Amino acid sequence: MKDFVFHNPTKIVFGKGKISQIGEEVKSTSKRVLLVYGKGSIKRNGVYDQVTKSLKAQNIEFVELSGIKPNPVLSKVNEGINLAKEAHVDGIVAVGGGSVIDTSKTIAAGFYRDGDIWDAFIGKYKAKKSLPIYVVLTISATGSEMNGGAVITNEETKQKFSFWTEKSYPRVSILDPSVQGSLPPIQTANGASDIISHVFELYFDGTKNVQIMDEISEGIVRTVIDCTNALMKDPNDYDARANFVWSATLALNGINGTGRSGGDWSSHAIEHSLSALYDVAHGSGLAVIVPAWMRYVYRVDVEKFARFANTVFGIDETDQEKAAIVGIERLKSWYKSIGLPVSLSDLNIPSKDIDKIVENAAMRTPFGRLKKLQPSDVKEILKLCL
Ligand code: NZQ
Ligand code: ZN
Repeated sequence: MKDFVFHNPTKIVFGKGKISQIGEEVKSTSKRVLLVYGKGSIKRNGVYDQVTKSLKAQNIEFVELSGIKPNPVLSKVNEGINLAKEAHVDGIVAVGGGSVIDTSKTIAAGFYRDGDIWDAFIGKYKAKKSLPIYVVLTISATGSEMNGGAVITNEETKQKFSFWTEKSYPRVSILDPSVQGSLPPIQTANGASDIISHVFELYFDGTKNVQIMDEISEGIVRTVIDCTNALMKDPNDYDARANFVWSATLALNGINGTGRSGGDWSSHAIEHSLSALYDVAHGSGLAVIVPAWMRYVYRVDVEKFARFANTVFGIDETDQEKAAIVGIERLKSWYKSIGLPVSLSDLNIPSKDIDKIVENAAMRTPFGRLKKLQPSDVKEILKLCL
């Protein structure tokens, strides 16, 4: 196990009916907030009413920034920064999933910057100050509710890049699993794919002797598979949803990375190119890339891939190479069974576009820890997605 520092400042309030506490939480730092949300699901499922009622009860004023789209964009962030400055807000309330939270984190950092906040994504600026952020989570996938990361697409340059700062952790995140019953099955499936991919990025980074972390990782993957299967039958199964929701947070709130080497993150890097170029949902893109990446690299750590096949899918095979391959195929079949795409053609991306995707990914290469990938490796992985 490697040395590490673990510090996570986000307070989690978890449970049914807890959204009514948002006003009281916000009151500790803020009187006038920017209320950020997406394209309308919160108006249809009652979450908007719960949030605004609670803010009003505490006399917290709010100005609204709505219409955040999945794969959120820089132009919307800039609109939000201008609005936040004009309205002199002193906090942000993000109501939604990763797209809304990441937009909010970027606005919160951009509020204190005169120059272009995109600089934070290309390593030219490190935010030292940020508006306080409060989250009401409505879709579990990214872990953004309890981490300091944000991912935004620059529409002009087709770069889907991320930044991370200690200042970007939400102060408080309210997780009410019952409000996720309104998610369409494909969004739950996308979430499942994203959650377990976060586990894979960390689990398969080549670090040895991290037994406690491996056990936690495998537990998260098994739990997410079981709960997703239950949610495909009944999206309102509260216990399945609650376990799914907390798994998502645990997968990327830092705990799961302790004692490891920082994670591999190649599948994410390649998927972000798919999202940047074709606007595909992050979880769907990952369901295509992850099994192909596994097929390309498993020989580097065949023992770990065989362990995964055994502990997650119960594959009892003494030949490690065979076990690894069967495990990867089982994962792919499971993605298919919950309605996820597993090939570029499932995403309507033609094979002739592979070079274009490689070119986009090459803005970040080399990446990967288990195996360092160059553009030529990315091309081979994409060929395995056909
Ligand atoms: O816009 P609305 O109408 O709200 O609809 C949303 C959206 O279409 C809908 N939705 C959310 N809650 C709902 C609901 N529909 C019905 N009932 C509800 N309760 O779900 C759709 C997807 O929302 P989005 O926020 O885009 O999903 P997700 O949480 O998966 O976020 C994805 C974004 O986060 C980034 C991804 O790349 C992607 O841009 N990531 C962020 C990370 C981070 N900050 O740590 C790490 C991840 O690896 C990831 O890259
Ligand atoms: Zn992800």
